[in-house]
Amino acid sequence: MPTPLLAGNWKLHCLRQEARDLASAIVDGSKGLEGRDVLVAPPYTALVDTAEVLSGSSVALSSQDLYWEPKGAFTGQVSAAMIKDTGCSHAIIGHSERRQHFGETDYTVAKKVAAADEAGLIPIVCVGETLEQREEGATMALVEKQVRGGLFELPAEAFKTLIVAYEPVWAIGTGKTATPEQAEEVHQHIRSVLRSLTEDAIADDIRILYGGSVKPDNVDELMACPNVNGALVGGASLKADDFLRIVHYQE
Ligand code: PGA
Repeated sequence: MPTPLLAGNWKLHCLRQEARDLASAIVDGSKGLEGRDVLVAPPYTALVDTAEVLSGSSVALSSQDLYWEPKGAFTGQVSAAMIKDTGCSHAIIGHSERRQHFGETDYTVAKKVAAADEAGLIPIVCVGETLEQREEGATMALVEKQVRGGLFELPAEAFKTLIVAYEPVWAIGTGKTATPEQAEEVHQHIRSVLRSLTEDAIADDIRILYGGSVKPDNVDELMACPNVNGALVGGASLKADDFLRIVHYQE
């Protein structure tokens, strides 16, 4: 069983001092934690401050995106090496909000995943269906297409550290969580797709996180699912107490 990962995606929140305060509370509240990994993903502007606060702790740092070109005339973009340089070890890629609002496709996800790996960042690749797709019965096919499409450029070796997040779009920020049965069903499917892409033992060790309205009162049942290896938390990761309750979920 992979070590569970509890990850906070701060999205478009936190000025630098707010990020420092939140990171500091998370470091304090997760001291001595064993058998679980913790990660936070602040906005770009707060990465360096957060890295300073996390330094010497076991809490990892991630960006929320990156651009695949290493350098050049790409105004407004941030490369994987620049992100690595701030102290990040991970990069979230293909979040549904980027797919919905910023034109992210499986093709751009694949380019970003390869760039992250090249720079020594571990990609956290997000997939998930909209409500319409779920109601049409298209969930499994869509998620499979996103996993295959997003990972096709990833070198074999990188599957050993890869993280995948299943985040049904209808559950993100809506207060509607997938039931443990719904999450487990899709996670099992993602696991079988991963098994077709790499060796079984490696696929079985890939962390598949669930995301979408994870809260202190539903984390325990979600984490009880055999193929749910962690959570990617948005709203509830902005309150230290809520996020720490999630980090300390009950088995
Ligand atoms: P939420 O966001 O927890 O606010 O639903 C999850 C995510 O988008 O990662």
